[in-house]
Amino acid sequence: MNFSLKRALSLVVIAVFGVFSVIVFLGSGGDFKTSAQEADPAPNATPEPKFDQKAAIAALREKIKGKEKLPAGEVYKNVQNFAQMPAGRLLAVMEFGYSRSLGVDCTHCHVEGRWASEAKPQKQTAREMHKMVARINGELLPGIKAFEGREGRNRAVVNCTTCHRGQVIPATNLGK
Ligand code: HEC
Ligand code: HEC
Repeated sequence: MNFSLKRALSLVVIAVFGVFSVIVFLGSGGDFKTSAQEADPAPNATPEPKFDQKAAIAALREKIKGKEKLPAGEVYKNVQNFAQMPAGRLLAVMEFGYSRSLGVDCTHCHVEGRWASEAKPQKQTAREMHKMVARINGELLPGIKAFEGREGRNRAVVNCTTCHRGQVIPATNLGK
């Protein structure tokens, strides 16, 4: 093969490739950018799947099936405050009393799936918050003269929601 024939051949190859590219481009709706973005998520997107709180609660409910009424202390591994609470109710406290009132999900205090672990300091803080609340309700509020003698449902009480109201750090003012 001589030199000019080689050159002519490579020009043909380039031309064919060019036409092919145009066909592919038009075939994609002239929109290479979108398909590239779909295939390759934004660099700051979280790669791990998001924590699914509903699924986690469903899995725990399945795991304790038939033992919902037993004391939490017998069903779970590491409960201190709630040892006497029915095991099924503990999950409701976790979902509504704790997660919802602080505006977080379970992973604020737990490593997903390792519920008995103490790895997150927020878990111990929550235990101490529980004790603080017990003291406010058991000692401090009943010690207010005007509330003396209030019993049962009529008692003056606070709970996590009273202060947190959907926020990890309770507000100390109402803003402007
Ligand atoms: C604000 C912190 C906090 C949040 C949010 C929270 N938990 Fe807990 N969780 C605790 C604490 C504290 C304990 C231990 C209670 C005790 O000592 O009586 C606990 C204990 C548990 C246990 C018992 C584990 C064992 O074997 O000892 C389970 C199960 C559990 N939580 C599930 C959940 C789920 C599910 C969610 C989300 C819906 C959740 N928690 C949200 C603080 C939290
Ligand atoms: C009397 C008000 C009050 C009540 C009631 C209360 N908290 Fe708190 N909580 C606070 C304050 C104040 C902080 C500290 C906020 C900060 O860091 O400045 C806090 C912080 C926390 C934290 C640490 C937050 C973080 O991750 O930095 C957790 C967890 C928590 N509370 C859980 C609870 C739970 C669970 C209850 C109910 C058992 C509860 N709290 C009830 C006032 C309250």
